[in-house]
Amino acid sequence: MLISADEIAARVRVLGEEITRHYAGRVPVFLGVMNGALFFMTDLVRSVHLDTEISCVRLASYAGAVSTGRVSGLDGLQDAVRGREVLIIDDIFDTGRTLSTLAARLRELGAADIKICVLLEKKRERAASVRPDWVGFPIEDAFVVGYGLDYNGRYRSLPGIEVLSEPDKIAPAAAKSQTMALDPAS
Ligand code: IMP
Ligand code: MG
Repeated sequence: MLISADEIAARVRVLGEEITRHYAGRVPVFLGVMNGALFFMTDLVRSVHLDTEISCVRLASYAGAVSTGRVSGLDGLQDAVRGREVLIIDDIFDTGRTLSTLAARLRELGAADIKICVLLEKKRERAASVRPDWVGFPIEDAFVVGYGLDYNGRYRSLPGIEVLSEPDKIAPAAAKSQTMALDPAS
């Protein structure tokens, strides 16, 4: 267990207060990146005491535990974001490719302002053109699951964040234990 459900809840409340102060008096569009941001977004939105609009986009850049850098699923966003202040909400900032691509597309679609809030940011080298404006927790460069983060669709519903080791060796039955060995190097 890297971050417990209680620690997440406390941090989300603080992020909510900061974001409330930042957008005070305005109506931002919260754009959640599905599916990973599902739990974080719903908790965060309820910690922000503002009238917000909510939209979702579906992107995927991971195949298993390896980032592929491919993004898709940006169609139909134009009306939601044109001329608006957009806050992208995602589970984790890893290589940053997904959110750099998304931010560039939102700019093309005419978003007036783009900010990024992620629950987790991995400490690693990256060449991304954007940085998150709000980060819940910086973490080491390991593959993590839980609270929306998945490994090939699994483990999303774990209440806290856990490190998934040797992802390729984990049999389906391992999901039952909800405890996985710790070695992100593989
Ligand atoms: P990036 O484009 O490399 O920054 O990848 C971002 C996306 O990859 C995130 O929105 C996650 O969905 C996924 N991702 C990155 N790292 C992890 C991880 O450790 N566990 C689960 N998903 C991850
Ligand atoms: Mg994602």
